[in-house]
Amino acid sequence: RKPITLHRLREMHAAGEKIAMLTCYDATFAQLLDAAGVDVLLVGDSLGMVLQGQASTVPVSLDDMAYHVACVARGNRSAWVVGDLPYGSYHASHEQALASAVRLMQAGAHMVKLEGGGWTAPLVRFLSERGIPVCAHLGLTPQSVHALGGWRVQGRDDAAASLMRQHARELADAGAQMLVVELVPSALGRDLAAELPIPVIGIGAGAGCGGQVLVLHDMLGFTRGKLPRFVRNFMEDSAGAEAAVRRYVGDVKAGRFPDDTLHGY
Ligand code: KIV
Ligand code: NA
Repeated sequence: RKPITLHRLREMHAAGEKIAMLTCYDATFAQLLDAAGVDVLLVGDSLGMVLQGQASTVPVSLDDMAYHVACVARGNRSAWVVGDLPYGSYHASHEQALASAVRLMQAGAHMVKLEGGGWTAPLVRFLSERGIPVCAHLGLTPQSVHALGGWRVQGRDDAAASLMRQHARELADAGAQMLVVELVPSALGRDLAAELPIPVIGIGAGAGCGGQVLVLHDMLGFTRGKLPRFVRNFMEDSAGAEAAVRRYVGDVKAGRFPDDTLHGY
């Protein structure tokens, strides 16, 4: 396939074609996911938990992220690559955020992702105006897990939901080209996707989003212990990892995954 560009992602969004995204941290999986038709590879700071065995994403450094973005970029051929700006790497100043984003872009990212709403809108504008595509991230923002009081569904009451919708509109107005929404009620995910001019990619945000993302190791059934209800193990009925990823892509594109009654809030 031809390389996925921002233009292509906008076309998919306009046509109502669901965007299939998975996390990816290394070259081998980048090659596999790209070949299996995943549109967007997210080099997520979830690598803190998945690869490093940390309890949260808080300990992940910019060096860690640049290393894994470079690994993924080498294995990838045609997918769109998003790199997470890690904890503390964009909070001090616009200049700090720009330097951090430049690190990830030079390591091979096509877009950077940052968490939070409100204070982040001027920052998104600053980066976007300087030619750096930005993906925003609202809902459960794991870098703030201690401030949020744990891994809880966000935007449950009307006030929290309308604040999130306001933040989302501000981020899109500021130039964000994509929005990840994590752990929110399905109705809020649907509203956000309907009212924003940019693709909304959900994780635990219901079937109404314009695309989906999961942590790779979760959907391959490699993660031990109790998983959140929004995860599905695609290895269960698949012959191997590539078949599982193909099934994920097919199910997302066809609207078969997620299912609001099984995976939603
Ligand atoms: O780091 C990550 O994997 C993420 C996704 C869960 C959206 O940010
Ligand atoms: Na992340």
